[in-house]
Amino acid sequence: MKEINLDNKVFRQYICRDEIVCIIEDISNKINQSKIQNPYFLAILDGSFIFASDLIRKIQIPNTQISFVKLTSYAGTESTGTVKELIGLKEDISNRNVIIIEDIIDTGNTITEIFKSLEKYNAASISVATLLMKPDVYNKDVKINFIGKKIPNDFVVGYGMDFDENGRNLPHIYKLKK
Ligand code: IMP
Ligand code: MG
Repeated sequence: MKEINLDNKVFRQYICRDEIVCIIEDISNKINQSKIQNPYFLAILDGSFIFASDLIRKIQIPNTQISFVKLTSYAGTESTGTVKELIGLKEDISNRNVIIIEDIIDTGNTITEIFKSLEKYNAASISVATLLMKPDVYNKDVKINFIGKKIPNDFVVGYGMDFDENGRNLPHIYKLKK
């Protein structure tokens, strides 16, 4: 098993490039076979940039579009702490079938914030496609429509996903060695 070091932590190879290709084949088939028409993919930066670029090239639905947004945290004016805001939305998504592209869904806090941010735009539908999901820790109500692979509660890096901004460039996915 191949191991790598990032920030003095050891990571072990977990999902190789070949398996990632199969996962993308499978998830793109499911999206292509869904009844979703004229999809407007919304990839969440930074983590999903590689997954989004591989996935979008496998989508064969007419009038497919893609755009990229970022979820930023800033200190809110309320005493409640940070507020999250989606930035970079370019198109009018009202009456569009939006498919959010995420790298990984853990507790579900992020995807729930994204849903809240999109509510006001009156999309026709909002679906979610994620490469990875940790069902053991997911504790939210947002339906995750397309899941590449379910994984245990391990910390992973590579293929766009980071550990303190490192490791996004790795072609395989690695998990933190305990
Ligand atoms: P959640 O809000 O707990 O669902 O976490 C989702 C976000 O946290 C993802 O968009 C990732 O950016 C990050 N994240 C969660 N788990 C991991 C992981 O194992 N590796 C890298 N990033 C992760
Ligand atoms: Mg991240």
